[in-house]
Amino acid sequence: SIPDHVKIVEVGARDGLQNEKNIVPTAVKVELIKLLVSSGLPVVEATSFVSPKWVPQLADAKDVMAAIKNVEGASFPVLTPNLKGFEAAVTAGAKEVAVFPAASESFSKANLNSSIEDNLSCCRDIASAARNLSIPVRGYISCVVGCPLEGFVAPAKVAYVAKALYDMGCSEISLGDTIGVGTPGSVIPMLEAVLDVAPVDKLAVHFHDTYGQALSNILVSLQMGISTVDSSVSGLGGCPYAKGATGNVATEDVVYMLNGLGVKTNVDLGKLMVAGDYICNHLGREPGSKAATALTKL
Ligand code: HMG
Ligand code: MG
Repeated sequence: SIPDHVKIVEVGARDGLQNEKNIVPTAVKVELIKLLVSSGLPVVEATSFVSPKWVPQLADAKDVMAAIKNVEGASFPVLTPNLKGFEAAVTAGAKEVAVFPAASESFSKANLNSSIEDNLSCCRDIASAARNLSIPVRGYISCVVGCPLEGFVAPAKVAYVAKALYDMGCSEISLGDTIGVGTPGSVIPMLEAVLDVAPVDKLAVHFHDTYGQALSNILVSLQMGISTVDSSVSGLGGCPYAKGATGNVATEDVVYMLNGLGVKTNVDLGKLMVAGDYICNHLGREPGSKAATALTKL
């Protein structure tokens, strides 16, 4: 059996845009976020308080937060890699944050310039500062089935990081297939290992769709009881430090599948497609959602 309601965490404005070469104007990011909220999405990740030298596209994080200050209907978590980012996020009005350790040592170094252990201790500092302010902290784990530098990642490594995030009080743990190499064959054993250390209602899945496996991986995750799914409008996205990785699974495709399964999401697919059209027009990109493309031709 599968959950009758799924919470979709829309990451298009953050994961979707962070790897775009041309700087997207703040006003376009803000309009995208507003359109995403109008579609009924409950969580719209807004931006990242990371080093602008590492991710130039999100250097306007503070301005984005200021512009959506009065937007209601969704929560707007932001990525914070260290205390400096956490403090800047709080000052900018963030009410939820996310940390993002890796399950692979080489990727941790490439993405965060830090070892897994040093980054986890940084995450602990953020978690305790956040607790004092009653700010929920989501913990992402990247490279949960494969690493662009090390290849296969063992489930035990993922479970180790998941336990650390759970023990520091993370409100949610999102399991990221950063480079989209997973299949149900590798995803199921990884989820089994994580379920040994953290309760199912704390888990989320975050699949990039590089190899076209994301919907299958989501379906098996639902069958294992997970009811929070990350996705990106029009399948935008990719991590700048994961060479060759393409976008996240498209939110439109996830909603289409969940509608077919009779699973409630609160998302209006037609309105979501408006958001997808808007950002694809701006980027000069063909829509990355098969469902949206098909529905547009009807
Ligand atoms: P570092 O270079 O080691 O940092 O980077 P540092 O502490 O040595 O500081 C160097 C400079 O950066 C200093 O400035 C700091 O002030 C500044 P300078 O004195 O040279 O002018 N700095 C900052 N500025 C703004 N905000 C900050 C900040 N921190 C330091 N928070 C650091 C370390 C962690 C900062 C860097 O590696 C970084 O920003 N990494 C983020 C990379 C990133 O955003 N990757 C993409 C997100 S992860 C992802 O996409 C995966 C996910 O989707 C899940 C999945 O798909 O699996 C979540
Ligand atoms: Mg990602």
